[in-house]
Amino acid sequence: MGDNVKEVRVGLAGYGTVGKSVVTVLARNADVIARRSGIHLLVTHVGARRGAPDLAEQGIKVSQDVFEVARDPEVDVCIELMGGVTTARDWIEIALANGKPVVTANKALIAEAGSPLIAQARQVGVPLLFEAAVAGGIPILKALREGLSANQIEWVAGIINGTANYILTEMASGRTFSDVLLEAQAAGYAEADPTFDIEGIDAAHKLTILASMSFGVPLSYRDVYVEGITALQSEDLEYAHRLGYRVKHVALARQSEAGIEMRVHPTLIPCDALLANVNGVMNAVMVQGDAVGSSLYYGAGAGGMATASSVVADVIEVARHSGLAIEQTVPPLAFQDAKPIQMVSIDAVCSAFYLRFQVRDKPAVLAHITEMLGEDGVSIDAAIQKPVHEQTDLVSIVLLTQAVTEAVINRVIARIEALPEIGAPVTKLRVLSL
Ligand code: HSE
Repeated sequence: MGDNVKEVRVGLAGYGTVGKSVVTVLARNADVIARRSGIHLLVTHVGARRGAPDLAEQGIKVSQDVFEVARDPEVDVCIELMGGVTTARDWIEIALANGKPVVTANKALIAEAGSPLIAQARQVGVPLLFEAAVAGGIPILKALREGLSANQIEWVAGIINGTANYILTEMASGRTFSDVLLEAQAAGYAEADPTFDIEGIDAAHKLTILASMSFGVPLSYRDVYVEGITALQSEDLEYAHRLGYRVKHVALARQSEAGIEMRVHPTLIPCDALLANVNGVMNAVMVQGDAVGSSLYYGAGAGGMATASSVVADVIEVARHSGLAIEQTVPPLAFQDAKPIQMVSIDAVCSAFYLRFQVRDKPAVLAHITEMLGEDGVSIDAAIQKPVHEQTDLVSIVLLTQAVTEAVINRVIARIEALPEIGAPVTKLRVLSL
């Protein structure tokens, strides 16, 4: 390495799947990183609550008290990879208070408590970056912060939870939900608490960050409408496919004259659409900008090495910008300020719907349902009727409606569910329209 390569000492807390991969990438790619950036990133101190004998053998300082890393005067950049919000937040606050730039992959922390941390970092005059928090290895935040900065963003939509996408992909080939979830956990894709993946919470955290960066609004996790994938039945995936759609767990934030809608839920997507063909643990994010039109970012959304790719890119950005005044760097949320805007409630959102009714097999049931939909101004685009189910004695009727508001469809569903011929709650899924 040349003489003019600067050395930057890296401290890290959390030595799990991602932490180990960060250490691997920094060691394996040290030369290429130095050639690109003129910086030699050297891991000097790792906080690992359960210890890390492999690192100690390499001469890297290891502390079971993770806070020692945040306070270490011999660390130039701190990386938080512990996850969770309580200790991680305290750790970042201490690192910032000690004047250290911080990189984190912690989407829950940034989405739910990011604003005060970003304010503290700005006040101290150091960067706080979190590329790995959204869509694993895809540099989507970099795209929003820099590559798309000439645009007014109209919407951002994506498949941003690898575990949920993996489960839905496997369920589409007939496998059961629980079986596939176990596999995703074993592969290290799922969150420590996998309900975050399957109930849509993880995707909502990521969407909160995407929306803030797209529209220049404050981080507002509580305003995201969230549905997970636990209520989905394999037969809905099958009926959707027969109608020409795939079912994906989609996160969408859109700005209109009415304000901003943010929602995360299972969605029917036409089979030939790009997002419908994002499978397994892969993620994809589409962004519609007024100048660029739509652009698509695709890649591994989870997994140690993919996430480490984003973490290390942030560390390189921090190291490159050291010495610059914070005002001269790209803001962590892409805007110099965050202006609150009216949030659009889910009731006012307009979509086409997939509806599955389980009915007792009596004459004129279908006519009765379509009549009630018609009374509320809901038009039908397509219909499927299945033979009687042997165990339940019920017939499934599947309808695709034209676009109506959520308030209208909920009202008519409630009226239909009160009919004596209806034998189970109606399944309702939205159809993606961008
Ligand atoms: N549990 C997350 C996922 C990991 O499955 O997408 C990456 O954020």
